Amino acid sequence: MDSSEFLGFLTSRSSVREYGNEPVSDDDIRFILDCASTAPSAGNLESWDVVLVTDEDARLGLQEAAFGQEHIGQAPLVAVVCANYVRSMSQYGERGILYAVQDATIACTYMMLAAHARGLHSCWTGAFAEEEVRAMVSLPQHIRPVALLAIGKGQMPASLTDRMAPSEHLHYGQW
Ligand SMILES: Cc1cc2nc3c(=O)[nH]c(=O)nc-3n(C[C@H](O)[C@H](O)[C@H](O)COP(=O)(O)O)c2cc1C
Repeated sequence: MDSSEFLGFLTSRSSVREYGNEPVSDDDIRFILDCASTAPSAGNLESWDVVLVTDEDARLGLQEAAFGQEHIGQAPLVAVVCANYVRSMSQYGERGILYAVQDATIACTYMMLAAHARGLHSCWTGAFAEEEVRAMVSLPQHIRPVALLAIGKGQMPASLTDRMAPSEHLHYGQW
């Protein structure tokens, strides 16, 4: 893939919020996890974990925890991507809290792009009641749910989202 193909790959992804119920295949799930495992992580500790939820009732429970966002209940697979504080803090102390969140965020990004590479759709979902999600998928206290990634075959929105000009993010040398 050359650099313009890479940019094309990135710009052709979009958050999808309407899904059919065709299940995500085991092959696709394995590919998505293999890709996530290539993500960089602080100290190579891979301080992230993921709970895969396919059961419809469980997804509807997660939808409720996500303030009723229907794509969570609709998508055939919801990945609850988590930061593992103990794995990171055992090496980095307090700083490990930040590292674990970053590790989980990068892993989730790789999963999202891996789904795209497989012709699947996804929607990163950050708005949810943490304690409800935690209880629903039985997370231990040292595991923090960072994102619900809805994955499946869906309906692309009519138009892609706009972006700020890259220069608006940019500061040279100092803010
Ligand atoms: C940290 C984060 C939290 C997000 N939370 C939600 C969410 O709760 N619900 C939702 O529908 N989309 C959510 N999104 C998706 C964004 O709305 C979406 O990425 C953004 O509008 C850009 O659109 P695009 O992904 O189609 O390019 C979230 C994305 C990120 C990175």
